[in-house]
Amino acid sequence: MNISVRIVFVAVAAVIVAGTIVAFLLGRQRSARYYPEARAVVDKHCVACHSIHTTVPAFPVAAGGVRLDTADEMRRGAERILVRTVVEQNMPLLTRTGMTAAERAVLARWIEAGATVPRSSR
Ligand code: HEC
Repeated sequence: MNISVRIVFVAVAAVIVAGTIVAFLLGRQRSARYYPEARAVVDKHCVACHSIHTTVPAFPVAAGGVRLDTADEMRRGAERILVRTVVEQNMPLLTRTGMTAAERAVLARWIEAGATVPRSSR
């Protein structure tokens, strides 16, 4: 390979790598911006059963062993939240809390953008 071809090759590779990193970081930022709304949906529809302090008498301890009280618990549970609320749509249990399609979309948007939580959020 002659030297100028090599330089072009390295430059193109560098742009691709840099672009990928920037896209990744922007995606994380976007997801973090979506977190507060996702948090509000989970507070409204999930923590009654998925909390260290449940409020549904039928579930004196967190249902299925899943707690969603903290940002970290939500982040770690994100894949399963997506499956149960958006794909299968069988959470909230028996859809008893009347979660709307728009609220399911709020969860999907946050999780599909990367399920990132802003620093220092609950
Ligand atoms: C009325 C109580 C109740 C509410 C409200 C509720 N859940 Fe659940 N959840 C359960 C029970 C019971 C289980 C365990 C049985 C099962 O998996 O179906 C469970 C299990 C789960 C699991 C773990 C099982 C798995 O597939 O990994 C996830 C994740 C989950 N729920 C997410 C949610 C989310 C998100 C919400 C709110 C949108 C929610 N749940 C609202 C009762 C509830």
